[in-house]
Amino acid sequence: MIKTSFYKQLTILAVSFVLSSTIVITALAQATVLPYKNKSLPIEQRIKDLLKRMTLEEKILQTNQWTYGKNANENNIEASKKAVRPEIGSLIYRSISPVYRNDIMRKAINESRLGIPILMGFDVIHGYRTVYPIPLAQACSFNTELVTQACAVAAKESRLSGVDWTFSPMIDVARDARWGRVSEGYGEDTYTNSMFSVASVKGYQGKSLSDPYSIAACLKHYIGYSLSEGGRDYRYADVSAQTLWETFMPPYEAGVKAGAATLMSGFNDISGIPASANPYTLTDILKKRWKHDGFVVSDWGSVINLIPQGFAKDNKEATLKSFMAGVEMDMVDNVYVENLEQLVKENKIPIAKIDEAVRRILRIKFRLGLFDKPYVEELSEKDRYYQPESMAIAARLAEESMVLLKNKQHALPVSKDVKNIALIGPLAKNKVDLMGSWEGQGIADVVETIYEGFEKEYKGKANILYAKGCDFDGINEADFEAALAVAQQSDVVVLCMGEMKKWSGENASRSTIALPAIQERLVSYLKKSGKPIVLLLSSGRPVELGKLDTLSDAILEIWQPGIAGGSSVAGLVSGRLNPSGKLAITFPLTTGQIPTYYNMRQSARPKLGGYQDISSEPKYWFGHGLSYTTFSYDSVKISSKTIKKNQKLTAQINITNTGNMDGKETVMWFISDPVASITRPMKELKFFEKKTLKVGEKMTFKFEIDPMRDLSFPDANGNRVLESGDFYISINNQKIKFELVD
Ligand code: GLC
Repeated sequence: MIKTSFYKQLTILAVSFVLSSTIVITALAQATVLPYKNKSLPIEQRIKDLLKRMTLEEKILQTNQWTYGKNANENNIEASKKAVRPEIGSLIYRSISPVYRNDIMRKAINESRLGIPILMGFDVIHGYRTVYPIPLAQACSFNTELVTQACAVAAKESRLSGVDWTFSPMIDVARDARWGRVSEGYGEDTYTNSMFSVASVKGYQGKSLSDPYSIAACLKHYIGYSLSEGGRDYRYADVSAQTLWETFMPPYEAGVKAGAATLMSGFNDISGIPASANPYTLTDILKKRWKHDGFVVSDWGSVINLIPQGFAKDNKEATLKSFMAGVEMDMVDNVYVENLEQLVKENKIPIAKIDEAVRRILRIKFRLGLFDKPYVEELSEKDRYYQPESMAIAARLAEESMVLLKNKQHALPVSKDVKNIALIGPLAKNKVDLMGSWEGQGIADVVETIYEGFEKEYKGKANILYAKGCDFDGINEADFEAALAVAQQSDVVVLCMGEMKKWSGENASRSTIALPAIQERLVSYLKKSGKPIVLLLSSGRPVELGKLDTLSDAILEIWQPGIAGGSSVAGLVSGRLNPSGKLAITFPLTTGQIPTYYNMRQSARPKLGGYQDISSEPKYWFGHGLSYTTFSYDSVKISSKTIKKNQKLTAQINITNTGNMDGKETVMWFISDPVASITRPMKELKFFEKKTLKVGEKMTFKFEIDPMRDLSFPDANGNRVLESGDFYISINNQKIKFELVD
């Protein structure tokens, strides 16, 4: 008995000694770990500690981003790690190797005095390696949940490849299709861009930036870039205060509220004060009014561009104006490194301003967890990319983004007993152009062509005949005859035409949105076959269809569908899938109609003032998109004909799938405010919902109107104005009136 209790006590003594010494060691260890490296401390405390340890030079280096990998920028760091200064704030990381990233990060942490991790950024615009449809196409899916999923996969592929930060989403509301960057945003509507701004931030950043597969988002190009004169790039943009607040600010405000870590300032001149040196937008609104606590990075060269823009006389003045306006990081110009120290010494930039910029940059690095987990797992390419989940999302997003513009006499879906399909055009066996611009780390080899998609779809059911017919451009008609012969052997001619990827994107504006005449001439030639003609149109912008419209029995806008477009478009043509896309941007009748968009103001003389030579009606309005099934809309019901400003009004409608195919329907609710102290657009989209309805299924769609959110409008200072009076709800072809009273 005594022996047992003795040993028992001895054991207890030994255990408690070990425990207490562990606690002491841990406490000692923590006491010796510098606060900024102590992950148990709050981030703001860690930033404060680190900042006070930094020299001015170390602080200034944090405000710099260099490129890394193959490119022509003179600040580019060669392929060897030796050129990378370990104290640099950020790199545009163009390698796909996590090993390389970890090597560079080790260098930053082990070879610099304070071991601050480098932030690795990259343009993950519509997928990283798994390339999704271009953002303009994604908008036409009106499926925000699916876009969030796509961004989450892109984030995971990015993080596993060494990238912590994407320069996306691009949320520039765009109404001039001559501008090459229309392809990168979410179309002409402010509300649509706001919804996809939030959807993509949620996808990229996940529940927390510190999650292992989250990356920091970057709202761009702040702000008004899409009004660049004449649709040409990098130009002056005359942005009235009213347009700034009504059209361009909401998607950024929504993205900031969703927690977007960063923004990128644009190239454009905003009515005389360039976007990359505009204190009103960058500080008064973004930092003071919206309380954004992340940072702003300039666009590539947009700081030194202030010189040709006539806003700075040299690099030093450009540095002063951008930095003081609220651009915290200089993308690849290297002018912050060259000038900030001198500007501080000349008392032109207070050290407090430097500290605030560095604080914001460090904050995002801490939130990303880079101080505590700077290295990424080094998986193989096979384990990083093209996972089944990514491919499934790519196929679904491609399918849901394609828009059936025309379907005369049900030319689509192609009848089940078709035996020979002629696939003709420059895009039929094309891989690279289906990716669209800003394809990230996408590689053309793995893109599924339209031809491959049709071969799979019709295996054992029909022959797929092929002829290129013509090039995208030029005058060579040598293949027309062969193409006609193929058409004559077929039951239906499926044309694969449209744009090259290089006709969209940055510095890719076009004076006309019509396709090169050779493509129209080929279609006219093939008309001799007497076969039904289905046009699959691949483009990065709305296209002036011209005769292509009259020559085609059906037109399916497939945009630039990314890696999995082939099977999706083949499934839509065969009827295995039912098209559900709706236009997020209006198709003008001609280039001359630009700008024409659905939420224009009312004319002073609605019946007059159009063009003498053509109609003022566009070819296809925003929201247009056909289905293989039919949806019948019952009458809208509203909860009251009158509401007070502090009440809500519920509108609802029953919709039935009255056709013979299951289908997805996007229900769009618009509000009109016909009389106001500031004129209002004829109507504005305020809510949309997309749901699947099976054959015969009836579903109720509701829109709860919150007067301050849905009936107010911003004035030229961004203050919300809510005025009593008559309003209208528009949905489908119905318009119902209600009154707002004080
Ligand atoms: C480009 C683009 C911008 C991109 C950046 C980095 O000039 O304007 O959208 O994110 O440079 O590539």
